[in-house]
Amino acid sequence: PLTARSADHGDVAVGGVALRELAARFGTPAYVLDTEDVRARCRAYRRALPDVDVSYAGKAFLCRAMAGLVAEEGLGVDVCSAGELAVALRAGVAPHRLVLHGNAKTGQELATAVAAGVGRVVVDSADEVDRLAAVSSPAGYVQHVLLRIAPGVEAGGHPSVATGGDDQKFGVPLADAPGVAGRILSRPGLRLVGLHTHLGSRIRDTGPWERALPALLDLVAEIAARHDVTLDELSLGGGHGVGPGEEFDLDGFARRIPSAVRRGCALRGLPALRLAVEPGRALVARAGVTLYRVVGTKHAGSGRWFVAVDGGMSDNPRPALYGARYDVHLVGRSTAAPWAPATVVGRHCESGDVLARDVTLPADVAAGDVLAVPGTGAYHHSMASTYNLVPRPPVVAVADGTAREIVRRETVTDLMARDLG
Ligand code: LLP
Repeated sequence: PLTARSADHGDVAVGGVALRELAARFGTPAYVLDTEDVRARCRAYRRALPDVDVSYAGKAFLCRAMAGLVAEEGLGVDVCSAGELAVALRAGVAPHRLVLHGNAKTGQELATAVAAGVGRVVVDSADEVDRLAAVSSPAGYVQHVLLRIAPGVEAGGHPSVATGGDDQKFGVPLADAPGVAGRILSRPGLRLVGLHTHLGSRIRDTGPWERALPALLDLVAEIAARHDVTLDELSLGGGHGVGPGEEFDLDGFARRIPSAVRRGCALRGLPALRLAVEPGRALVARAGVTLYRVVGTKHAGSGRWFVAVDGGMSDNPRPALYGARYDVHLVGRSTAAPWAPATVVGRHCESGDVLARDVTLPADVAAGDVLAVPGTGAYHHSMASTYNLVPRPPVVAVADGTAREIVRRETVTDLMARDLG
């Protein structure tokens, strides 16, 4: 939604509403979400992958409006905590369209999810089978289960989000999987319907899935033979990249992966598997823009020009966590000032609180100006903290020229409400 790189962003708009106006009306910092952009991306997935079950990974950004929107677009929702589960249910998402994830789901979370009737619980370990069975069988209800596999494929744009390898916490190693499958199959309250894998985040091409598929399909065949069952589903997780150098090849995935799975099944004498994917970032990252107001500027002893804004690592921890890079645009006024090298920093009490190092901004940027940081729809609000007791920003949905706060700004009163003195 915000791509131009020019100093003349006097009245740049998202969803038909000028960012200047949004900053004035809702204050700063504020997350702005172009909901038509999210809808368009949901539709693109459904068009490209008509026979694949698409769920939205709620960890990227979840609130009732967002859950309702993706459900309206025909997507399921992947949730990974009691909080995400509650929000999705409250938004009216059909329970059977929910998938529960997590490597450390508590007994309480499992019980709540089973009682709510979630469509799939993705079992992450052998001991989780027992904990899930304990809350499933007494209800006299058969919970459908996917078994998460770590197929030994490293993928993803950063070590912190590579989740398919041998030396990380998620899933069950290939060698252990038939045993864990047997454990699931031995429980009357559980039905093993398929396998799941999530290889990592910020993946661009189909290579990692192609590398993982032979082992996964061999495993489906081995489980079928060893336990005399038919598995129906294979979820290939999310991790679809966005942006320069990381743009996920959706068409390539659609062309190659479903057909590779069909061929692989035929080759092994297996019935066709229903495929599922669960992108988060790819659906929402680009739909988001964060607005900040400049609080002040200064030159450090090194000569570096620091532009300090009223947010920072509490609303965007990604530069500090992953070395993520962002563009920054002056919005709300035009200027003919020359470009100057700038480092945009936040308000928090550590020097690592840098939003964008070595960018360029008009040299006359000063206190009171509004800056926009695009590409902040995924893993920003959802990872926000109240560090330094800074309340979290609101989320403002814009579409067709109208704006609506879908998550209100947190207040100091909210923060004080938890402080019992
Ligand atoms: N499915 C599972 C089981 C996952 O763990 C994840 C992300 C997804 C789907 C969605 O992945 P996506 O399509 O959004 O890449 N905080 C990090 C990203 C962490 C991703 C964790 N799992 C960041 O800001 O880059």
